[in-house]
Amino acid sequence: MPIQKVDKIWMNGELVDWDDATIHVLTHTLHYGNGAFEGIRAYETDRGPAVFRLTPHIERLFRSAKILYIDVPWSVEDLVTAVKDTVRANDLPSCYIRPLVYLGYGEMGLNPIPCQVDVSVACWPWGTYLGDEGIASGVRMMVSSWQRHDPNSMPPAAKGCGHYINSQMAKVQAINSGYDEAILLSPQGHVSECSGENLFVVRDGTIVTPPVSAGALEGITQDAVRRIATDLGFGYTEGNILRSDLYTADEAFLSGTAAEVVPVRSVDDREIGDPGPVTRAIQEVFYEAVRGKRPEYAEWNEYVD
Ligand SMILES: Cc1ncc(COP(=O)(O)O)c(C=O)c1O
Repeated sequence: MPIQKVDKIWMNGELVDWDDATIHVLTHTLHYGNGAFEGIRAYETDRGPAVFRLTPHIERLFRSAKILYIDVPWSVEDLVTAVKDTVRANDLPSCYIRPLVYLGYGEMGLNPIPCQVDVSVACWPWGTYLGDEGIASGVRMMVSSWQRHDPNSMPPAAKGCGHYINSQMAKVQAINSGYDEAILLSPQGHVSECSGENLFVVRDGTIVTPPVSAGALEGITQDAVRRIATDLGFGYTEGNILRSDLYTADEAFLSGTAAEVVPVRSVDDREIGDPGPVTRAIQEVFYEAVRGKRPEYAEWNEYVD
């Protein structure tokens, strides 16, 4: 999806002009893929842009970096402020936000420890990742022949730059096969998650989502779904899901910052059908909450003003 250019990008403590936010071709992360990032959204509200669960996203960025042996030279508070400054500097009512921790120029070789650690924060207007039609009517999914990586080779708890090669393989396979999005299985054969979203199935009014031990990222939207589902009185549990459970689900949906909350229409051509009542109820509350219309979830809206 094309990036829409805006005015400023935060780089190592400075707001620089968009066209000046460049790096050297010998930047370490460009070669070996070690780095960590976040995907965050700011939503339009009556009080101006509200960044959805900004602090938990930045805290996850620090956890990712720790897992990957990267020492971030800023505090959580510094980067929360950096995100707010970047959104404000670009004067956007709503946007997608991409903080990135990367290993910079100056070292080569597989030991990341001596590398300079650089941080950037960019934002731009970005529509929903799987399309408005997907949010309204659902997406068609396939189970990929690419497996999610094993926690002892590439820890899925880290949102590491290089981890996303795995997601890209599955995504391209799904698109080339005529589907909207891919579901990956863990090396143990359990359902893990999608290329960039957590996955949920609904059976008899209970929502089930795979645990981190099945290779899923601990999603911040997933956690919001958990709270909304529980508050609405639905059963909610983390547990292993088999491929066949997807085919026979009453409902299925996915969640993620880029995609938001998206119903699943079919998996491997087994129809699940139109979005069901549980999915619809969660979507409704989610979109009201992110737009600052739900006082009970007010702490999710981190305002830029
Ligand atoms: C692999 C993967 N799983 C799940 C998610 C959903 O996480 P979140 O809701 O925190 O965006 C993402 C997006 O960040 C992702 O890349």
